[in-house]
Amino acid sequence: MFDQIQQPPSDALHGVMEKLRADSRPYKVDLGVGVYRDASGHSPVMRAVKEAEAILIEREDSKAYQSLHGDEVFLEAMTELVFGRDHPAVRTGRIAGIQGTGGTGALRVALDLARLARPDAKVHIGLPTWPNHLSLAEAVGLQIVTHPYFDPVSQAVDKEAVQQAAAATGEGDLFVLHGPCHNPTGADLSAGDRIGLLHSLMAKGAVPLVDLAYYGLGDGLEADLRIVRDLAERAERAFIAVACSKSFGLYRERTGILFVLCANRRERDHVHGQMARISRTLVSMPPAHGAGTVAHILADARLRSLWEAELEEMRQRILGLRGELAALANQAPMLRGVGKQKGIFRMLPISADQAMTIGRDHAIHLAPSGRINIAGLKLGDAKRLAEALTSVE
Ligand SMILES: Cc1ncc(COP(=O)(O)O)c(C=O)c1O
Repeated sequence: MFDQIQQPPSDALHGVMEKLRADSRPYKVDLGVGVYRDASGHSPVMRAVKEAEAILIEREDSKAYQSLHGDEVFLEAMTELVFGRDHPAVRTGRIAGIQGTGGTGALRVALDLARLARPDAKVHIGLPTWPNHLSLAEAVGLQIVTHPYFDPVSQAVDKEAVQQAAAATGEGDLFVLHGPCHNPTGADLSAGDRIGLLHSLMAKGAVPLVDLAYYGLGDGLEADLRIVRDLAERAERAFIAVACSKSFGLYRERTGILFVLCANRRERDHVHGQMARISRTLVSMPPAHGAGTVAHILADARLRSLWEAELEEMRQRILGLRGELAALANQAPMLRGVGKQKGIFRMLPISADQAMTIGRDHAIHLAPSGRINIAGLKLGDAKRLAEALTSVE
């Protein structure tokens, strides 16, 4: 049975993790894996999460399945968080929601649903992107069309290429849009550009698929969520895949949600049913712990403000690190523009060989693509990174 099975191409980040593990130098730096790290290099459990988990464990009196759509309290609380109170799309009953196993699971249900609705739909994806976007679209069998998103020279969004790509979409196609803090470039579209892009897509009958993974880490929670709220005020239809992995620090708890904005209530009901059917074949019933934790945080005013404060602390640390790197750009021109980008990622214009040299000679480990997780820098590491970049330039 397995004799025709080939070894899959190795995962680039997995290779970085292995090199990191094998590196015994105490001053080694991990800029590879995309998780938030505090000043000591640790990826901590948020205090609000710890408290909510304690309540959850104490109150939980059953492990019986929840509904096919997931934890109802979580679904409601996340709807309110993402869209705000009284958003017209919520009020008019046009949004269908389902729990996803992380942002990945939410994206998967979105793509499966798109395939069901339009088997010949194309998925338009700007490059570079989070590699799983491509793998997921491929896994569901949708045709992928790529376009350039980022200009490595100016370190900014290639707006013209993105607009051209939107103009080339067809009726029922999907167009992947990152929320705040683009992974891997940190280069975001402005609010005005997003609206312009949305209008181009709507004119073509294409549907945006928003991947919201880093809310709160860009311009602040409200400003970051405004991206979705603005879109939902204008779009007739949209997919919004939300991860709780980064903003709640719940990575391994696989917590997320997919919202589908529909043209009307009737369409919403059909979509809602189909989402459950799709999810049933993927996970049957969604996991409870992460969703229950988020639900507690969002329902309790004290825990919610603690969570928001911690999220803001994380954002401020990232801003501080970006500031440190920007101040070193004269010494290491590869860091130019880093202060204007958002979130934890930056795409360094270096080759895989240069990335490997930096790991070997400086104990600073990063992806072969040149993507770095800025939050992986500890005290003094920014200077070391600038020196390492200068040495390979
Ligand atoms: C752009 C983007 N979308 C979605 C995700 C989904 O993450 P998860 O499935 O862990 O929630 C990630 C995680 O790295 C990401 O970077």
